[in-house]
Formats: sequence, C-alpha cells, structure tokens
Amino acid sequence: MAETGTRPGDTLPKGFRSAEHGWPELARIPHPPHRIPLLGDLLGASRSTPLQDTLRYARQLGPIFRRKAFAREFVFVWGAGLAADMADEQRFAKHVGLGIANLRPVVGDALFTAYNHESNWQLAHDVLAPGFSREAMAAYHPMMWDVAERLTGHWDQELAAGRSVDVPGDMTKLTLETIARTGFGHDFGSFERDRLHPFVTAMVGTLTYAQRLNSVPSPALLRRAGRRNEADIAYLHRTVDDLVRERRATGGGPGDLLDRMLDTAHPVTGERLSPENVRRQVITFLVAGHETTSGALSFALHYLSLNPAIAARARAEVDRVWGDTAVPGYEQVAKLRHVRRVLDEALRLWPTAPAFAREARADTELDGDHPMRRGAWALVLTAMLHRDPEVWGQDAERFDPDRFEASAVRARAPHTYKPFGTGARACIGRQFALHEATLVLGLLLRRYDLRPDPAYRLRVTERLTLMPEGLRLHLERRTAPRSTAPGAPAGPVPDEEVSAPRCPVHRAGD
Ligand code: HEM
Repeated sequence: MAETGTRPGDTLPKGFRSAEHGWPELARIPHPPHRIPLLGDLLGASRSTPLQDTLRYARQLGPIFRRKAFAREFVFVWGAGLAADMADEQRFAKHVGLGIANLRPVVGDALFTAYNHESNWQLAHDVLAPGFSREAMAAYHPMMWDVAERLTGHWDQELAAGRSVDVPGDMTKLTLETIARTGFGHDFGSFERDRLHPFVTAMVGTLTYAQRLNSVPSPALLRRAGRRNEADIAYLHRTVDDLVRERRATGGGPGDLLDRMLDTAHPVTGERLSPENVRRQVITFLVAGHETTSGALSFALHYLSLNPAIAARARAEVDRVWGDTAVPGYEQVAKLRHVRRVLDEALRLWPTAPAFAREARADTELDGDHPMRRGAWALVLTAMLHRDPEVWGQDAERFDPDRFEASAVRARAPHTYKPFGTGARACIGRQFALHEATLVLGLLLRRYDLRPDPAYRLRVTERLTLMPEGLRLHLERRTAPRSTAPGAPAGPVPDEEVSAPRCPVHRAGD
C-alpha cells in the first residue's frame, strides 16, 4: 500500500499559493527582465505555447527561476540536483495547483487531481493498481493488438488512395480506442468516423479551458468559454453515465478497470468507490490514458521518419523477435528493447506531460540553498531537465536512443529522467502506455517505411499535454523479406534484457 504521506486533516489552504508566501528568499531566484507592474512577466509571452516560452526562459535564467503572471508568481526548477532533491518523498509531495486544480470541477478527487489528504486517493490507488500489473497487461495485450490493426487497416486505405497520414490525429484515435476497450469495454468507433468523436472534442475543450484559466486574472473574463466548458463537462458526464449503465445492465464485464471501479472492495478496509467517484475516475482514465500516449507515439514516429538508420535498427529487432508470427504475444513486445529505447528517447526530448508540481511537506531548504515554507511549491520542468547538458551531454538536443542502453542508464544520476512523474503520485498507467506504444511502433515498423514530408518543421502544440502539430507522414508498404538485417544482433534476446515484471507505480530510482 502506498502512502502519500500528508496526514488526514493536515491540510493547507486551497487555491493558488503565490511564491512570495512560501519562498522567504525569493528575491535570490532570477526572473525574466522587463517585469512590469500588474502584468508581471507577461510582456511578449505566448498564450498558446506557455511551455515553450518557459523553456526559452529556462535557458536564459538557469536551473531555478520564477515567472509572474498578474499577481501570481511561480517557481520552476530543472537543474538535476534541484529536481532530484524535489523527488525526496520524505520532504516533498505532489502539489495540486495551476492546470491540475483547474480540472477539479471536472474530475474532483479522482486519482490525478486528488489532494494528498483526500482519502479517495488511497482507496482508488489500492483498488485500481492491480489493474496495471503484469498479468493485467498480458490480458489487455490482445485488445491492444486488435486496435492497432484497425489503425493499419486505416493506413493501408490511405496508402492505397495515395494520401499521407495524419499522425497525431490517428494516434489519438488509436490510444482513445485502446483505453476505452481495455479499461471499459467500450468502442468509440473512432476509425469509422470522419470527424472527431464528440467525447474527444469535449475533452479537448475542457483541457484547453483549464489551461486558459491560467492566463487570465479572473475566470469572469472567460464567461462565454466558461459556458461552453460547462456543456463539455455535461457531455463527458453523460458519456460516462451511459457506459456505466451499459455495464450494470450486462451484469459485469471481463474484470477490467470498470469492473474494478464498480465491484472491487478495498482489500483492507472493504470500502468501495462511490458512484460519483467512479464517474470521476472513468473520465480521468479516458483522458489521462490516451492524450499523453498519443503524443509520445507521434513524436517517436516523427523522429523515426527523420532517422532512417535508427528506424532500420529498430525494424531489424522487430523482424528478429517477431519473425513471421502473425500476432506476436505479450512477451514478444516486452522483448523489443531497441523500439522501447526509441520511445524513451522521444519522451526525453518531448515528455508529453512536460512538468509536474511538488510542494514542501514541512519547512525545508531546497538543495540546501533555497528555504521553502511548508506548502511552498515549484514546477519541475521535465522538458528542460531532460535536456540538461550536465546530465545528457553537449548533444542533449540530438535524438539518440542509445542513451537508454542499460549501461548508460546505470551511469546516469538518479531522478534525471521523469516523463512519468515521481513518487507515490507517479503515473499509474506507465506500463500500460509503454506496452501499448512499443506494440504499435513494432507493428508500424514491420509494415511500413516512414517517409517525412521534406517541408515539415516540428511545431509543438500545447494543451495540458504536448503534440507535434500538423505532422503527416508518407508511407511505403514494406516488401522486403523479414530476415535479420545486417548489423542487428542475431539470435534470441537474452533474458536480462526482457522487461522484468514490477510494480507499475513504485520503482526505485525513477
Ligand atoms: C506516455 C504516456 C503517459 C505519460 C507521459 C504520463 C505522464 C504522467 C505524469 C507525469 C503523471 C504525474 C502527474 C503529477 O505528478 O502531477 C501521471 C499521473 C497519472 N497518469 Fe499518466 N502518463 C501516461 C500515460 C497514462 C496512461 C496510459 C494512464 C491510464 C491508463 C495514465 C493515468 C494516470 C493517472 C491516473 C495518474 C495519476 C496518478 C496518481 O496521482 O495516483 N497515464 N501521468
């Protein structure tokens, strides 16, 4: 059983806590030049790409810095020492603030948005964690494969029609269908539709609204958008209520996440999730379970298309491990170590959840240098931590999956790679996302050569998550025999390279 550590009743004031209240020596932390009264550092700031703006300032201002928007000031950290210190679970915990707090009207105390002191976090964590065990993944595997084949069915049609493919659009369809089917036995029919499923539109609407709330001094300024947001939330609720009603009508499903939510009692206390909480968890999983993985796959495909030698090496591994097996099993996906490293490297350069917030459990000093009062918080800027030249070398901006060779990983300091967050509140769906994405990349590499559009330059869109904007790829169907390619290691994959079964949530070091 994991503990978030903050004692029940040991609560801090809710709402935004500006940095000047929690950082006694805030003045020592650099901020952008040209700060102006009322607006703070907003001059020249981009509303649509706040993260990329922040990365620019990170490069100018160093491993810890602050920004101010109107009266709200926040601290960012990305230096390896500072980020590692913030990973200390004894002294720091997840902070629910900014964009995450803005999602509370939609999903309240569900796993992702729960405050540390809310008892429903522990209850849901303990009830749902077994749904992410190795056994659970192996059970999801055939459904993941089915959905991946719907994608290749669609891509074959696009190829036959002489069209390039819409990578982020199709990855979003794929990942939504995967979590909906494996988790909830539901089919949104995404690949059969010309337009986005209304659930996706409503979901994107709420995420965008949550982000916009950060860039205005008061929600009153977004009245019209606020009304649309309420309609979006109502649509999300209706969709989920239908889904639960269907499941109840059939008298139970295959033991998936929805069954766990509806029927499983806590192993120690015997408590169950309330109907309201189930609704919040279902929305959380449908949202958290697809946006980030869709972005990760899209970035990985972008880099594979630009790096034919890396793609050839990954493809050679797929051919060697899968051979002529029509439908590879769970273990054959787990053995794709090079493909997995491609994904790890894509998530290094573009962690699709690009930051997470941590707060001090008690008065402390960050990295022995910056005093923080209890409840003071900072955003760990993963997207910059993953590019720190002191950790990743002078070529940190270069795409190189070999950085994730076992020996290179061992040689690196701990807590320097955090695409899935840290500690008790780290991503519960990590193994799910990695298995799904490795399977899909394996299948696509086996079936197609990926050709970039020579005119395309990577542009990254930001909601709560990151996505390559407008990425289209040209496909060629592979005709080459599936033999071992030159340079690829021959023979079976040694056992030590195979993913070891492990707890999906609590891993040492990362
Ligand atoms: C590449 C894909 C993914 C990435 C990069 C990612 C990233 C993250 C990160 C950084 C956090 C921690 C947020 C924080 O500290 O505030 C998180 C939490 C979470 N993720 Fe993921 N995630 C991914 C896929 C998934 C999937 C597939 C699921 C579900 C099937 C999922 C469900 C969740 C949930 C429920 C939490 C909250 C956990 C808790 O607080 O107990 N995620 N994720």
